[in-house]
Amino acid sequence: MPKFRIVFDRVRLEEKMLEEKAIELGHDTKMIDAKTTNISTESKKSDFDFGDVVLERCVSYFRGLHFTACLEFLDVPVFNRLEVANNCGNKMFTSLLLKKHNVPTPKTYFSFSSESAVETLDRQGYPLVIKPIIGSWGRGVILLKDRETADAILEVREITDGPLDRIFYLQEAVKRPPRDIRVISVGDQVIAAMYRTSTGGFKTNIALGAEPVPCEITKELEDVCMKASKAVGGGILGIDIMEDEKRGFVVHEVNNTVEFKGLAKVAKRNIPKEIVEYAVNLAVR
Ligand SMILES: Nc1ncnc2c1ncn2[C@@H]1O[C@H](COP(=O)(O)OP(=O)(O)O)[C@@H](O)[C@H]1O
Ligand SMILES: [Mg+2]
Repeated sequence: MPKFRIVFDRVRLEEKMLEEKAIELGHDTKMIDAKTTNISTESKKSDFDFGDVVLERCVSYFRGLHFTACLEFLDVPVFNRLEVANNCGNKMFTSLLLKKHNVPTPKTYFSFSSESAVETLDRQGYPLVIKPIIGSWGRGVILLKDRETADAILEVREITDGPLDRIFYLQEAVKRPPRDIRVISVGDQVIAAMYRTSTGGFKTNIALGAEPVPCEITKELEDVCMKASKAVGGGILGIDIMEDEKRGFVVHEVNNTVEFKGLAKVAKRNIPKEIVEYAVNLAVR
């Protein structure tokens, strides 16, 4: 019987669903709290109960990333792999990889000081979208409509001055309907897709109240998602796509620890089942 483990820091509905499904599928299943696990350079796989495969599901991106590094050190198979987590957790790395692999993606500009960011803004004009390179749920994603807003945001960055505040990620504002598409891909398959329709604001995150609406998985959507998945290294991913009025699909983000409680309500396939089976099948092969 395969031993399936979920590493968590906070148990959301998603982690509950994954645990319940794994038990229902007959796997020896355990939840492991990252917050109470100590690992060292002297540790061995046999010191722990990480089983045959770990699904890393920490809410804290940095906690999950560093825990994954430890798991790979111990030769424990883990999803997503460290490389994939790193590629997806950082929007700048993701954008570079998407473009490099010819995946349609919004035009994005990178600066390494606020003076250079102002130059980009003056050159490209408004509106532009600024995003923290690491973050989720739409937090800190801001539509810069004019110079005044831009100056205010850049000023705040100078005051906070954390290591990530010195990296400026500016993106064209894509002309699209008031919705985007969230796809869940598992290995080489797209298993679910939904539109996220805004209930008012510019951002379409479910966390901000957007409505999940079923979305047909067309061949075109599948193709763009598979290219995006390959670009970041594959695995269990949440791919965010906008529908540009001229270019069609553009991928703006690939999420590493995908939330799916919204999508589970409208999806035809069972998302936790697909995730658990993928991880277990790859690990025990
Ligand atoms: N370039 C853009 N043009 C128009 N809307 C955007 C753009 N980038 C992001 N958005 C909107 O903001 C939301 C959050 O941006 P996203 O890059 O997915 O960050 P997060 O990781 O916080 O979800 C998107 O789902 C989309 O609705
Ligand atoms: Mg997103």
